[in-house]
Amino acid sequence: MGFFSTLLDFKAPYTAGEAWVYDHLIAPGVSSFHGPFLAAQLDAVPEGGSLLEVGCGGGQLLIELAERRPDLKLVGLDLSEGQIIRARQRTARFGGRVRCVVGSAQDLPFDDTHFDGVISVASLKHWPDPALGLSECARVLRPGCRLFVVEADRSCRPEDAQAFVESWKIPSLLTPASRVFFRMIVADRAPALDELESWSEALPLEGVVVRRVEGAPAIALEGSRRLHR
Ligand SMILES: C[S@@+](CC[C@H](N)C(=O)[O-])C[C@H]1O[C@@H](n2cnc3c(N)ncnc32)[C@H](O)[C@@H]1O
Repeated sequence: MGFFSTLLDFKAPYTAGEAWVYDHLIAPGVSSFHGPFLAAQLDAVPEGGSLLEVGCGGGQLLIELAERRPDLKLVGLDLSEGQIIRARQRTARFGGRVRCVVGSAQDLPFDDTHFDGVISVASLKHWPDPALGLSECARVLRPGCRLFVVEADRSCRPEDAQAFVESWKIPSLLTPASRVFFRMIVADRAPALDELESWSEALPLEGVVVRRVEGAPAIALEGSRRLHR
């Protein structure tokens, strides 16, 4: 396994090196993907409820969620052991209220209707079968509770890709090459809006909205688990 093996196989777990690079250089900019939606998604989780983040990476978003909603129990799940080790270290101060587990979106290790909310940010493009992963996310949701998934947009606008890459913690000299990397390697493996729409149609959700994220090279899916299948 090489230092950057995910570049060759996007479905492989991040290596320790990839986890470090993503975590330190790119992850801080990903807040533009979910920023406009986070407050509404969090407000929808009932008081004292539980929230799952699928593909939680190094745990940056878990920290934000835990700080904004001290009443919630949070679980972060990621395929990469390196990411989960980092997420555990980062969230240790929240004690048992934040739990981080290694696992796959394709086969979530939780009972049906276990969570009061499920979130996933920039992870879907790595799942071997995104439709299966999305149905797993819906399976573990309690009826009436919300699923929110955001991912890079294969058909993103050049100016949104440019703004995203400029938010990476890299020397500006590397920005042009990083834009090409994002466009040709990352976004190219991400779903397009119509693909996300067609996957969403098979989910036991209601009030589904699939849309482009304003000002970010991203698309989002949200909806509530139907009360009756
Ligand atoms: C681009 S990173 C996003 C991390 C984090 N959500 C963020 O926004 O900074 C994608 C994450 O998805 C994880 N991942 C890839 N395949 C996965 C799978 N099948 N199940 C769960 N997580 C997966 C990777 O290990 C990685 O941490």
